[in-house]
Amino acid sequence: MTEKNNRRDFFKYIANSLAVIAAGVSVTGIITFLFPYSFGKRKRPERLVLSDNDFPDNKNYMHVKVGEKEALIIREVNELRAFDLQCTHAGCTTEWQEKKNRFFCACHNGIFDSKGKPISGPPKKPLDELIIYRNNSSIIITEQVKA
Ligand code: FES
Repeated sequence: MTEKNNRRDFFKYIANSLAVIAAGVSVTGIITFLFPYSFGKRKRPERLVLSDNDFPDNKNYMHVKVGEKEALIIREVNELRAFDLQCTHAGCTTEWQEKKNRFFCACHNGIFDSKGKPISGPPKKPLDELIIYRNNSSIIITEQVKA
């Protein structure tokens, strides 16, 4: 075997290896695009299944943790709303003030109304409202923010 053949074989080997790597990367990209939740590219949004019985006695609100989010569910006559309690100003956790029907952020005295709209203090953006819905007798809340 000549040195020329050795060099040619070496470059063939490198070219073939690069082709295999490129094919692997392409196939992986296609698979994660087609099945994003199955291959770790995107995390499936967490969801929680509850019922009306989970609300504390005489309360129309309830604190829950869904995914990484601390949230508050507010139940009104024919409506459910859920909010991420993270303040949109600097990320502190807001608290629900039932008697005042509002969210309060003690970090900088931010206040949001019961629909999550900022009404006082530094926050300019509303609280993130999470997707929540009824399915027969179940209440399903997800960590996904409403568009
Ligand atoms: S972090 Fe909530 S008002 Fe500043």
